Amino acid sequence: MTDQWQPRMVEALAQAERGRYGASPNPMVGALVLDGEGCVVGRGAHLRCGGPHAEVEALQEAGARARGGTLVVTLEPCTHHGRTPPCVDAVLAAGVTRVVVGSRDPNPVVDGKGIATLRAAGVEVVEGVATGACERLNQRFFRWMRTGLPFVTLKMAVTLDGKIAARGGRSRWITSEASRRAGYALREEFDAMLVGIGTVLADDPRLRRHLGLNPNPHLARVVLDSELRLSPTSQLLAQDPGDVIVFCRAPARPDRGRELERIGVTVVEVGPDERDRCNLRPVLRWLGSHGVSSLLVEGGGEVHWSFLSEGLAHQVHAFVAPLLLGGREATPAVGGLGFSSPQEGVRLDLEEVRRLGEDLEIIAGVRGV
Ligand SMILES: NC(=O)c1ccc[n+]([C@@H]2O[C@H](COP(=O)([O-])OP(=O)(O)OC[C@H]3O[C@@H](n4cnc5c(N)ncnc54)[C@H](OP(=O)(O)O)[C@@H]3O)[C@@H](O)[C@H]2O)c1
Repeated sequence: MTDQWQPRMVEALAQAERGRYGASPNPMVGALVLDGEGCVVGRGAHLRCGGPHAEVEALQEAGARARGGTLVVTLEPCTHHGRTPPCVDAVLAAGVTRVVVGSRDPNPVVDGKGIATLRAAGVEVVEGVATGACERLNQRFFRWMRTGLPFVTLKMAVTLDGKIAARGGRSRWITSEASRRAGYALREEFDAMLVGIGTVLADDPRLRRHLGLNPNPHLARVVLDSELRLSPTSQLLAQDPGDVIVFCRAPARPDRGRELERIGVTVVEVGPDERDRCNLRPVLRWLGSHGVSSLLVEGGGEVHWSFLSEGLAHQVHAFVAPLLLGGREATPAVGGLGFSSPQEGVRLDLEEVRRLGEDLEIIAGVRGV
């Protein structure tokens, strides 16, 4: 029963991909409308947050041809008034007799209600079609909805011997231009990015979106800076300081805090962790409750260690260069104390491995989080 819909769901997933750079913090969704003969008469995607939903786009394109037909959609249609009216109303008004759903929407205001409403109105609902792929597509959104915390990816440009900077701290550039471009593309997908103050002091980075793939040029840029060492004249604050959020440990230097706030920076005090640095859980809770569904952590090594050792990272996205830097003092991709046996280490499940120019790109999920 579900197998026959598989190829159509794959097409709907391809539609959903069109929202990769604009939909967040909403989920990516794709939809197709088939007429009574099974021909595709409408296609739609949720392209940007606040814009029309995929089902509505596809139904509009189909017009009267939707009547008596089938809607194939990667995510359960919504039942609530959010930024747009409920999709279920549009589905019922269009007169489709069958809806094929890829995954349920974990958003507590939907969570099965869309499917129940359709069934109650006499529409046949087919579930369980390519559900794994549909859930993977929105793994960031699903995590955020279920926990209130953002999905966290650690991004690193690393040498074959595991270094993210040379002795003395220089890291430009470890990887090839192709890898750097792929890294910049990630910034277009995530709601926010985060670095430690060590990286800001070493590199004085701007940490901006460069590629214009996301319709929103603004990216929330987050710094962990227990003692507010961030200088108001740093490159990070040269443009759009209002996009910058600095977490410090209470009570940090109030004069510096006020100075940063005067130029538009958001300064948030959190309690200490066991090493007297910013406690990550309240940081993530704050970000999650301010609409950050996905967080790209771009180092450095100390910050990576904190996220991994506290079980707060979900994915690693590494660009590995065929370069050896050596050096006991050179910054490792993951610093901190380190684990005392391989059994205690963080196990990863490889998701994708490919060659990118002269480098390797590795995406891996953190096991057990
Ligand atoms: N190749 C790459 O992909 C890449 C990417 C980024 C950075 N880098 C390189 O990495 C080097 C910097 O890395 P790093 O390890 O020295 O520093 P880091 O990880 O960027 O920053 C560490 C600092 O952040 C602050 N911090 C606050 N809360 C924290 C928490 N919960 N966990 C961890 N740190 C917290 C601490 O300073 P306070 O206690 O003062 O707040 C800590 O010393 C630079 O050389 C840079 O060029 C390379």
